[in-house]
Amino acid sequence: MTAAKIIDGQAIAARNREDIAREVAEMFNRDGVVPGLAVILLGDDPASHVYVRSKRKFAKDVGMKSVVHLLPAETSEAELLRLIDQLNNDPEIHGILVQLPLPGHIDKNAVINAIDPEKDVDGFHVENVGRLATGQDGMTPCTPLGCMILLRTCLDDLAGRKALVIGHSNIVGKPMARLLLGAFCTVTIAHVKTKNLDDECRAADILITAAGQPNLVKGDWVKPGAVVIDVGITRINLPDGKIGITGDVDFDAVKQVAGHITPVPGGVGPMTIACLLANTLKAAKGLIGHAAASTLDVEVDHPTV
Ligand code: GUN
Repeated sequence: MTAAKIIDGQAIAARNREDIAREVAEMFNRDGVVPGLAVILLGDDPASHVYVRSKRKFAKDVGMKSVVHLLPAETSEAELLRLIDQLNNDPEIHGILVQLPLPGHIDKNAVINAIDPEKDVDGFHVENVGRLATGQDGMTPCTPLGCMILLRTCLDDLAGRKALVIGHSNIVGKPMARLLLGAFCTVTIAHVKTKNLDDECRAADILITAAGQPNLVKGDWVKPGAVVIDVGITRINLPDGKIGITGDVDFDAVKQVAGHITPVPGGVGPMTIACLLANTLKAAKGLIGHAAASTLDVEVDHPTV
């Protein structure tokens, strides 16, 4: 058996960002509008800081306005809601993202649902979740959208294929399953209570895993020729003392069996950010006619409250 083709998420995301940068420039030349993305981060979680830095870097790279609000972990829910209200009413901001997880004293759903659905570039607002569930256009969550783009690079037609999604989170698993269903896959969602996960995997033509459990998916769990998309991100200590990331799949074993496979890093991760930028552009297109951005990169460090 030949080894799987590696799906190069890095290269596909780079091409998507080039397209987005071109559209951002066209929008500015035509309408004088610069798409603006505001990211809010509470606390000191190192992984969240890494993600937010990347989001900011790539937003700037494609010519968007990037505003990062760094708040202390003790920030009250009321204060966070006030900031969201301010950003909802800011004509230079088209996309708002609150980095998750949030500290335990904050009601995550209250915060997500306070974001104007048209600026909800994560697609987590209950209105956007409902739109996706009922096949209406809205904001689609970035990681599942990125996975669909990767899948379409290796499969002409998804209809009728058996897809297994491991993980039932609101961020990945559930919206992923809805997108696959929209493409007429026969979809199964597995989770911590699923029995015989290995057999579920063996039945899948498309296997998408978002469990956050290294080496969960073994080589002999995978159907020969299947497309394997690894969304897992677990931070690990590398031999050189640095921090690296690993996925959910036993990559070396699974690549001997699968038809296509994403690496970690360099697979889904870059696509998530490319799709965030695409959603921000989409939001800006929907809100054209509002003011142009004045300052392109802003970091707002809020004092401890
Ligand atoms: N934390 C982990 N993934 C995500 C994501 O896609 N969006 C937000 N807001 N927080 C996250």
